[in-house]
Amino acid sequence: MNILLLGCGGQVGWELQRSLAPLGAVTACDFDTPGDLKADFSQPESLRALVSRVQPALIVNAAAHTAVDKAESEPDLARAINATAPGVLAEEAARRGALLVHYSTDYVFDGSGSQPRAEDAPTGPLSVYGRTKLAGEELIRASGCHHLIFRTSWVYAARGGNFAKTMLRLAAERELLNVIDDQIGAPTGAELLADVTAHTALRTLAQPTLAGTYHCAAGGQTSWHGYAQFVIEHARAAGMALKVAPDAIKPIPTSAYPTPAARPLNSRLATHKLQQAFGLSLPEWQTGVRRMLTEHLNR
Ligand SMILES: NC(=O)c1ccc[n+]([C@@H]2O[C@H](COP(=O)([O-])OP(=O)(O)OC[C@H]3O[C@@H](n4cnc5c(N)ncnc54)[C@H](OP(=O)(O)O)[C@@H]3O)[C@@H](O)[C@H]2O)c1
Repeated sequence: MNILLLGCGGQVGWELQRSLAPLGAVTACDFDTPGDLKADFSQPESLRALVSRVQPALIVNAAAHTAVDKAESEPDLARAINATAPGVLAEEAARRGALLVHYSTDYVFDGSGSQPRAEDAPTGPLSVYGRTKLAGEELIRASGCHHLIFRTSWVYAARGGNFAKTMLRLAAERELLNVIDDQIGAPTGAELLADVTAHTALRTLAQPTLAGTYHCAAGGQTSWHGYAQFVIEHARAAGMALKVAPDAIKPIPTSAYPTPAARPLNSRLATHKLQQAFGLSLPEWQTGVRRMLTEHLNR
């Protein structure tokens, strides 16, 4: 089976290179891939030729404009990358009978309330990023292609920078940390998303009725403050020298940390549809974070 992977250098894309490898011949592309395998999502129409060249039965799109604050000042680019380009991929998938896997976000919701949201809950994005990601979902659903759309939250990866590594650096440099405590969600590992993708794509290729929109996030919930505390406690227990005292990680409200893009306060995603449809069990968020920290601290 030919597989076209887009956004292969990103957090999720990097892990997908590993998890998709046993499924078939993976052609992995990114914005900076040289030659005719370059995938430039700012030029959505150019993606048709790429799909033609690879002739995939499975297209996995991990490319996105994920700079949430920057998107506020470049809405046209964000729309091209997050909506128009996935729409073109969906049309090509429909034409060829390929399965398209795509990722979306809890930012399609308005963040009100305190309950986990199901897939069919009303949307209400607060930002350009959220609106363009929702538009991408809608174009994919309207195309009629077989698709899996996974809405996820608070993605981190072992490779590159992430929130946990930033907290560790700051905890080693500063005596006091202020961290937001009124945004609630589940940190979700790129590894987990990639593994779920490989499993569900294979199942959906064999049983197309499984196609649809699913929420995919690690189990449990926390705030950014709770996440930071967990990370710092783990590092302290592992013997890392830290300047910040355990009681000097201060909770602050979102209103004390203004950003160009508004963030949802409630990022909880209900995941039972995915778990039931595919017989999966999503681990608690601490499992993946602990693993990522262990790898990071033992480098
Ligand atoms: N990160 C999160 O917290 C989060 C939360 C919820 C949902 N998601 C969704 O999960 C998916 C994967 O996110 P991620 O965290 O892996 O993102 P990421 O690390 O930012 O990776 C995004 C990828 O998109 C590529 N890209 C950006 N602009 C492009 C362009 N013009 N043409 C082609 N490729 C381009 C990037 O390439 P370069 O590196 O070369 O720019 C990178 O490979 C996305 O759909 C995202 O919306 C993410």
